[in-house]
Amino acid sequence: MRRYGLIGYPLTHSFSQKYFTEKFEREGITDCTYSNFSLPQIGELTGVLADPELRGFNVTIPYKRAVLDYLHHKNEVVAAIGACNCIRIEEGRLTGYNTDVVGFERSLVRHLAPHHSRALVLGTGGAAKAVEWVLQRLGIVYVSVTRRPRPGSADMSYEQVTAEVLAEATLIINTTPLGMHPHTEECPPLPYEALTPRHYLFDLIYNPARTLFLRKGEALGAVVENGHEMLILQAEESWKIWNS
Ligand SMILES: NC(=O)c1ccc[n+]([C@@H]2O[C@H](COP(=O)([O-])OP(=O)(O)OC[C@H]3O[C@@H](n4cnc5c(N)ncnc54)[C@H](OP(=O)(O)O)[C@@H]3O)[C@@H](O)[C@H]2O)c1
Repeated sequence: MRRYGLIGYPLTHSFSQKYFTEKFEREGITDCTYSNFSLPQIGELTGVLADPELRGFNVTIPYKRAVLDYLHHKNEVVAAIGACNCIRIEEGRLTGYNTDVVGFERSLVRHLAPHHSRALVLGTGGAAKAVEWVLQRLGIVYVSVTRRPRPGSADMSYEQVTAEVLAEATLIINTTPLGMHPHTEECPPLPYEALTPRHYLFDLIYNPARTLFLRKGEALGAVVENGHEMLILQAEESWKIWNS
């Protein structure tokens, strides 16, 4: 049996376990399992790694950074952004990858137009790091919007995001949890009335499918995308890495 899984805490409703279990059934893959490993402490990973049948695993909140200490090798992206969400195990050696980067890029570019050359990235957490890496690769100029602008940085506070700022920045990416189930009435504080059909709003949240952030954009004709496709693309990229 080849074993895979997800580590994180808490793992209340994991997309990945359902996704891979259904994938194995659909594709007639009978020699693989995908389990949730809900670990209150990252130190408990040692017990999970003791399973000789474990071939790889995904990593979610809050261990995308902490797991770096367990890696024997990091790919270029993980080394650069310091966040890992996919690990391949070969003869006891762990190699770290970041498939959020691949998932986000492939999903983003589907609606990207040449005029989406300036972006705002809302939030500065782990997912924002993957988003920033992709924007740099694509040559898109971005500014981080945060509750706590970092001294000496170009960060903006939410108060600084005016209609004039939105006239320039036509790509807005939400990497904050604002609006995620069950807090569906929340959204990042922005001057939404300044949005136009030239704007592209991408929300990493996938539950609900249409957050208030996306609905406000949609109402003014903006192009919108949620995090669902990104989630599927990052899962499939993990599968490719484990089987390459
Ligand atoms: N679709 C996918 O495949 C996918 C993949 C990864 C993550 N995600 C989603 O992306 C989101 C972020 O994940 P993450 O791992 O980056 O989480 P995280 O590390 O907790 O970071 C989220 C960031 O959001 C900001 N934030 C948090 N609470 C806020 C609040 N009440 N008001 C305003 N800003 C707030 C913070 O930035 P500041 O302190 O700078 O304001 C924080 O650093 C989650 O909803 C997650 O489910 C989706």
